[in-house]
Amino acid sequence: MLNKQLARFPRLDLIGAPTPLEKLERLSAWVGRDIYVKRDDTTTLALGGNKVRKLEYLAADAQAQGADTLITAGAIQSNHVRQTAALAARLGLGCVALLENPIASEDPGYLHNGNRLLLELFDAKVELVENLDNADEQLQALAARLQSNGKKPYTVPIGGSSPVGALGYVRAGLELADQIEQIGVPFAAVVVASGSAGTHSGLALALAERQPALPLIGVTVSRSEEDQLPKVRRLAESTAALLDIAVPEPLKINLWDEYYAPRYGEPNAGTLAAIRLVAGQEGLLLDPVYTGKAMAGLLDGIGRQRFDEGPIVFVHTGGAPALFAYPQLFSG
Ligand SMILES: Cc1ncc(COP(=O)(O)O)c(C=O)c1O
Repeated sequence: MLNKQLARFPRLDLIGAPTPLEKLERLSAWVGRDIYVKRDDTTTLALGGNKVRKLEYLAADAQAQGADTLITAGAIQSNHVRQTAALAARLGLGCVALLENPIASEDPGYLHNGNRLLLELFDAKVELVENLDNADEQLQALAARLQSNGKKPYTVPIGGSSPVGALGYVRAGLELADQIEQIGVPFAAVVVASGSAGTHSGLALALAERQPALPLIGVTVSRSEEDQLPKVRRLAESTAALLDIAVPEPLKINLWDEYYAPRYGEPNAGTLAAIRLVAGQEGLLLDPVYTGKAMAGLLDGIGRQRFDEGPIVFVHTGGAPALFAYPQLFSG
């Protein structure tokens, strides 16, 4: 059903084959629970990550509208902006990004290294802004400015989290459901970082159809459950409307908000411990802003017996380039 509805939307095939679902053998033995990882950190474009899936649909929409420039916004160390800028380069489009410094960092690593360094290579035009408190209006104003200069901008919302962008994670959720069914054992849960919510909302729609009994846990990276819940629910509803399907009932949105403190973009001791553990046991890189927090939630959830019996899937959404923006956290 969802497959058929999805097929109506234009998509640029950037990823090709399904990303692997792999068992983390040493980490599983270490924690005493089977943990699988869905490798969306390996999507091929410019060091990978979850935004490539959203951009498959967003960039197809931009091309259909005859756009010549992608505009977007995010933190100085945004993975989303990096992937958008890379795709613009690949498609021969311009890219303009509004960037904020959400942690008021003066660290040269944060200001110039990691994702920010890569924006220079992709030739993105960067405009630093005080904050992105009214991002939609700020992007509208930027679009109007570019139009008055004869450009045809296409606005990619923060995090790529519009209904069109979330289609990428509906598709990913169907792919994951196929892989879970192939393994053939009942899983306990799927765990993913929940930020601008497109990843979580898209997965929720797909898994509600294909694995309705399987809990999907969104570990928040910037908000309390109270603030994040309406974001995820609203985007799931508007994505369902775009797909012309009924919202599956009940659409259960599970959020764990104990792992994001002190705030977005600032890791805590649990984040750093999770990054070190997974790197040391598996040679697998998490990041300090999203996946380190989500994995900290997964590990703590196992310790506190928050999951039912069975293996757990961790959706690895990428982000490792940001490690180079926080070098002091890991120096000897
Ligand atoms: C590495 C990484 N993981 C997770 C997320 C969160 O995804 P979403 O914004 O769709 O909730 C992001 C978003 O920027 C990200 O860059």
